Amino acid sequence: MKNLPLLFCGILIALASSFTGLVLSSYIQLGSLTQTTETLDESGNSVEGDPLFPAKVSGLAQQGKQVYVELGCAYCHTQQVRRAGYGSDVEREWGKRATVSRDYITQERVLIGTQRIGPDLTTTGERLADKAWHHQHLYNPKSTSEGKSTMPQYAFLYETREIEGAPSTKALQFDSGSEYAPEAGYEVVPTLRAEALVEYLLSLKLNYSLPEAPISE
Ligand code: HEC
Repeated sequence: MKNLPLLFCGILIALASSFTGLVLSSYIQLGSLTQTTETLDESGNSVEGDPLFPAKVSGLAQQGKQVYVELGCAYCHTQQVRRAGYGSDVEREWGKRATVSRDYITQERVLIGTQRIGPDLTTTGERLADKAWHHQHLYNPKSTSEGKSTMPQYAFLYETREIEGAPSTKALQFDSGSEYAPEAGYEVVPTLRAEALVEYLLSLKLNYSLPEAPISE
């Protein structure tokens, strides 16, 4: 091994350049991003807004995010709105603006996703704000799309039980004669995991401007 020093230098250069390229350059570009109250007004001047954005999701929604991870929703759903010109996300009304790095800084685990079998979910909480709809959809996705959805059922997040006394106020409502309804005398109620998951879906919003990404109506 007469070229050992050369080999060593080569390894060092390879490691140093990949560290610089992957870790250091990202850190220099993005490491200083913080939550901000700043937005841009119509003429492009920076003004102080009200709350800090991006906001942190808390409590039940945070638990729901864990359920989202466990059930692998991210294999079929993304959480990123592409810029106009890089896809039709804005035209599809999946978001009023594209997402930028700062949108993700409060999240410990970022669920950008890699492929879209289903729609992007970045703005689910704005587009689909009805809790009951989400429960109906998760219980059986076909029930909200005239039997057409290819999304798997998550009926195991719901309990089908005999009605004792008055029906639960949380019970899913089915149209009379619906093929998805439980037998007479039974009701379908969400478990805590289902409630947390829906809380998380409702918390997904992109309704604030950032200095680098203003919402232009
Ligand atoms: C196998 C792929 C797949 C998986 C896994 C999946 N989905 Fe879906 N999802 C879809 C498809 C396809 C649609 C569109 C049809 C529909 O509305 O059911 C959809 C639609 C949705 C919608 C409605 C979005 C809109 O804009 O209309 C929500 C909300 C949603 N999924 C949430 C979830 C959650 C939460 C999970 C995990 C528990 C999940 N999905 C898992 C494929 C999937």
